[in-house]
Amino acid sequence: MIQQLAITDIRNLSSVSITPSSSVNVLYGLNGSGKTSVLEAIHILGVARSFRTSRIKPVINQGAEVCTVFGRIGETLVPVGVSRNLRDESLQIRVSGENLKSTSDLARLLPLQVINPDTFRLLEGSPKLRRSFIDWGVFHVKHHDFFPIWKRLQKALKQRNTLLRHGRISGSELTSWNLEFEKAANAIDELRDDYIQRLTPVFNEVLSELADMDNLSIQYYRGWDRERTLHEVLSSGLTRDVQSGYTHAGPQRADLRIRIGKGSAVDILSRGQLKLVVCALKLAQGFLYKELQDKQCIFLVDDLPSELDTPNRQKLCRLFQKMNCQTFITCVEKEALEHCWLPETEVKMFHVKHGQVTVIPNPAQQSIRRAESLEMIEHE
Ligand SMILES: Nc1ncnc2c1ncn2[C@@H]1O[C@H](COP(=O)(O)OP(=O)(O)OP(=O)(O)O)[C@@H](O)[C@H]1O
Ligand SMILES: [Mg+2]
Repeated sequence: MIQQLAITDIRNLSSVSITPSSSVNVLYGLNGSGKTSVLEAIHILGVARSFRTSRIKPVINQGAEVCTVFGRIGETLVPVGVSRNLRDESLQIRVSGENLKSTSDLARLLPLQVINPDTFRLLEGSPKLRRSFIDWGVFHVKHHDFFPIWKRLQKALKQRNTLLRHGRISGSELTSWNLEFEKAANAIDELRDDYIQRLTPVFNEVLSELADMDNLSIQYYRGWDRERTLHEVLSSGLTRDVQSGYTHAGPQRADLRIRIGKGSAVDILSRGQLKLVVCALKLAQGFLYKELQDKQCIFLVDDLPSELDTPNRQKLCRLFQKMNCQTFITCVEKEALEHCWLPETEVKMFHVKHGQVTVIPNPAQQSIRRAESLEMIEHE
C-alpha cells in the first residue's frame, strides 16, 4: 500500500504530491491532463520502468534531466525512491536509505497489476504476454524458487541455440546443455502448472460475477507435447532445430489458451466482453495473491469506464471493493463512476489538470465530518 506519493518530472507532472486512500483512488480529468502519467509514475516506483515504453527519454519531463518517484510504503511507511537520469540512463533505487541493486527485489516490495487499454493484448497478442501474466503469479507467489530457475533456463536456452547455430550438435557440450535446459524447463513447467491450477477456480468465480460465460475455459500449454518428455521432443526435433538455429520446444513456447467452447475467445467476444475477461484474469491474480501470501497487490486501472456499460462498471468496482486492495483508477468524467461504490467505501477523488493533482473533498465523508463536529458543539 502506498501511503504517500511524490512525483517529480514524469511527463507533464513537474511536481505532484498526494496522500492516497488505502482503498479506492479515482483520478479524473480531461484528455492530456496527466492521469495515465500518475499511474505510470506508480509503476516506475514499483518496477523501475514505465508500462507505456521501455525507453526513459519520453517519460522524463521535457526540459528536465532526472525524474524521481518517491513513496512511503506499507504500515511502517518504508521510504522507497526511484530515479532515472536522462544523460546516462542510470537508475537509482533507494529503500530505507540504502541502494537497491535488483529490480526484482523492488517488484516484490510493491506488487502491481496494470489494467489499461493495452491489456486487451493479453488475449489478442503474442503468447509472450500470456507467459508474462503466468510468470507474474509464479514470481510473486514462489519467487524463491522461480527466479533462480528462470535465470538458469535462459542461460541454458541461449547456450543451446548458439551451439545449434554453429552446427555443434555432436559431443558432450550439447548433451550437457540439453540436460541443464530440460531440468530447468521441467521445474518451470511444474511451477507454472501448479499456479494455473490454483488460479483457475478463482478466475472462474470472478468471471461468473462479471459475466455469463460458462463455456469459457483457460488452459495452460507447457510449450511441448503433453504426452512426451521434453527429452524425447528435443531428440526427435533436433534436425528442425539445427535448420532454423533455435529451440522449438520448451517453456519459452508456453501459452495460456483462452477458449469459448472449442473456439478462440478473441474471435468470438465483443470488446467489452474481452475487457471483462482480462479484468477477471487480473483480479483473480489479486485474489489468489491475497489468499496465498496474505498480502495485497496494488491495481492501476487506466480508463476503467471505457468499453463498459454502467452495470459492468458497477460489477467491476464492487470486485475491487471486495478484494479491499489499494486501487488507482482513472477516468475522464468523474460521473462515469459515481454510483459504482458501496457507501462505506473510502473513495478518494483527485482532479488532474495541466499536470497538477488536487484532492477533492468527498461529499459523503464531508457530511459525516460536519455531523460529527455539530455533535461536538452540542456536547460542549
Ligand atoms: N516528456 C514529456 N514532457 C512533458 N510533457 C509530456 C511528456 N510526455 C507527454 N507529455 C504530455 O503529458 C500530458 C499527460 O499525458 P497523459 O497520457 O498522462 O494524459 P491523460 O490524462 O492520461 O490523458 P487521456 O485522457 O487522453 O488518456 C499530455 O498532455 C502529454 O502531451
Ligand atoms: Mg490516459
